[in-house]
Amino acid sequence: MKGINRARTGMAGVVATFTILALAACGGGSDTSGDGGDGEDGSGDVIRVGFSQLGAESGWRTANTESVKESLSEENGFDLTFVDAQQKQENQIKALRDFVAQDVDVIAFSPVIETGWDEVLQEIKDSGIPVVLVDRTVDTTVDDPFVTWIGADFKQEGTTAGEWVAENAPDAKIFELQGTLGSGAQVDREEGFGEVVGDQVIGKASGNFTRAEGKTAVEAALQAYPDMTMIFTHNDDMGLGAIEAIEAAGKVPGKDIQIVSVDGVRDGLQALVDKKFNYVVECNPVFGDQLAELIKKVYDGEDVPKETIVIDEAFDQTITQETVDARAY
Ligand code: AHR
Repeated sequence: MKGINRARTGMAGVVATFTILALAACGGGSDTSGDGGDGEDGSGDVIRVGFSQLGAESGWRTANTESVKESLSEENGFDLTFVDAQQKQENQIKALRDFVAQDVDVIAFSPVIETGWDEVLQEIKDSGIPVVLVDRTVDTTVDDPFVTWIGADFKQEGTTAGEWVAENAPDAKIFELQGTLGSGAQVDREEGFGEVVGDQVIGKASGNFTRAEGKTAVEAALQAYPDMTMIFTHNDDMGLGAIEAIEAAGKVPGKDIQIVSVDGVRDGLQALVDKKFNYVVECNPVFGDQLAELIKKVYDGEDVPKETIVIDEAFDQTITQETVDARAY
């Protein structure tokens, strides 16, 4: 039965709840031979990690990749094999099989969509290599397919966005600009938002989390839904593409068509300062240190929480330029 192993957070009524892992001090010196050396993680071993990143589609993803690479470094006791799947599931499956063939110590991956992993997850399970799920969730029939998951509460992000709309724009006619269809981020943000203001949504389409596809989707939506007054975009990059489409159509983003977004990358927050975005729910990509700590514990056979929720904030147009300038990503 589908769905029994889905990583779900099930929170309501709060911007975020979380398990914060103590960040261990990580030091230099490592053996990158991959056969066990003198990394300073306390176990005396270099941990060989295969990480399948789903792509480089957004500012969020770029920041997440930087954070992961910085934390899973040689000097922190890791031997990281990092593979970018370019938003293609078949590339991720190939990378995962390669990691099994290489007999890495731990496999970590951020699944581009939720379904279609049964076979490869079973193969990994049969190999005995532990899996750490990163960012997005899976929907699989495989029993106990991963040791732990770290990421954001996507449903709560959608709920938080919906609550702002309900309070500030209860009459808005909303076009929902969705992320990659079938991804945990799309499915859960749609669900959370829809539960609060679903009756205000007049149309939906995917922009695949990229600026270019977001722009194209909004160009079409402006024709299809001429009465729209708001866009709820599942990420900043698509929202920035929406701004281009709205301005090209002679309308004013943030006024004629309000924009509510998710992520909080610097360009998105700058759009908020510039009054082109109206509200941004943060999705924090900088959790490499927490991931590294989890992987060490998994490698050492220590207990870890089944899920770790990364803290999110939310911003409205009262945000200052100083806050944006100080943003790390
Ligand atoms: O899974 C997280 C989402 O993926 C981010 O919101 C989006 O920008 C990225 O592509």
